[in-house]
Amino acid sequence: MHSPNEPDSPVSDSSSDTPPAEDIQGQPILSDDNQYMDVSSFRDMSNTSAGKRRLPIGGSLGLGVNARDSKSRRREEIPTRRIAGGSGSVWLSSDMSNLRSQKEELVDNHLVERLRTADQVQFFLENGYVVIKQGFTKEKAAEWSKAIWVRLDMDPDDKSTWMRERIHMPWHKREPVATFAPKVWSAMEDLLGEDRIDEQASTWGDSFIVNLGTPEFEGDDKHVHPHDLDNWHVDGDFFVHYLDSPEQALLVIPLFSDIKPRGGGTYIAPEGIDLVAKYLVAHPEGVIPVPSKLAPSTTTYADPQDDPDTYAHREAVKKCAKFAEMTGEIGDVVLMHPLMLHSASKNHLREARIIINPPVALRKPFEFNRKDVNDFSLVELKTLKALGVDKLDFKPTTERRRLVPKSMTAKNAMLEEEKRRLALFNE
Ligand SMILES: [Fe+2]
Repeated sequence: MHSPNEPDSPVSDSSSDTPPAEDIQGQPILSDDNQYMDVSSFRDMSNTSAGKRRLPIGGSLGLGVNARDSKSRRREEIPTRRIAGGSGSVWLSSDMSNLRSQKEELVDNHLVERLRTADQVQFFLENGYVVIKQGFTKEKAAEWSKAIWVRLDMDPDDKSTWMRERIHMPWHKREPVATFAPKVWSAMEDLLGEDRIDEQASTWGDSFIVNLGTPEFEGDDKHVHPHDLDNWHVDGDFFVHYLDSPEQALLVIPLFSDIKPRGGGTYIAPEGIDLVAKYLVAHPEGVIPVPSKLAPSTTTYADPQDDPDTYAHREAVKKCAKFAEMTGEIGDVVLMHPLMLHSASKNHLREARIIINPPVALRKPFEFNRKDVNDFSLVELKTLKALGVDKLDFKPTTERRRLVPKSMTAKNAMLEEEKRRLALFNE
């Protein structure tokens, strides 16, 4: 375990992202014509690159990573653990011109139920995320967040004290995922492969990310199209990125508050996975995160943002037509492909939105050229699908290295302030 007095380790919390880490929860996706995408249609994968190989079967998610080992055999015999579907409430398409009527039309319990009973493996391969309903208890959430307003030095009932739109808080305590949220840990193993996760680098802490919104965007008449959000990025400002990077193997969003539609939930653009993956394939020398962009790690520009070979997230998102707003209940957890493009959103409701954004690291890098296709993890399969190939012999051409996020100094100062307030509060 980390000591609370240590600086927030680069691997301890992805809230040190660039731009400031935002969140993610889960919701279904709309097709281009604003119709709900029936995930049952994804069961026939015969016309996709992933479908050409035998989809692994086994384990609670049916992923069958290392399917022939004893643990997987054991889990095949007890197929009781399932990943639940999205909670469902609102989905946004590229056409936001009639947002209100779309919402009313799409809050449809029948559709929600269809998602919950659908094959989550196929859903992940298509959309790059799954939702674990009630992945941890509301009691644990309440215990961890009980002092959050003291830490924030704000009054939950007086918005005039909400002086910042979004706050990325430091952590005071951590816990292994396996004990804090055992159902989530099992799902992580299903997505990444048993025994492949670095447990020490995959703990959760109380480093909350709070979205309080601003008066400017408060109200029923306020809307922002996903294309116009200014926070699009992929996570991980603490390492040089390669296609196979092990440092952040999933994007994870546990919800510590209920999040309603328009309540500041993260937006995701699943099509962005393909765009980022292709950029990373073209840059085996690695890329570094710079504000709103990725740049070649070997850039010779004094300011990497000036390099014409950068990848700009805000430009990439303009090519995306499908978006999902992440909403849900306390205890829900969204597990996402590590290259998911996502953005903070405006909190039009101004009900405090509270999440964490913990990392998951692998013991070894992703492997896209496994001899036995049944040994691919689901995340690896999704990456290959994004690239339109069945296998890929990818090798970094520079040495892997860690980066020190610029946000670390500010977060350490915030930690000391929080500890001082907590000590006074507890006297
Ligand atoms: Fe993020």
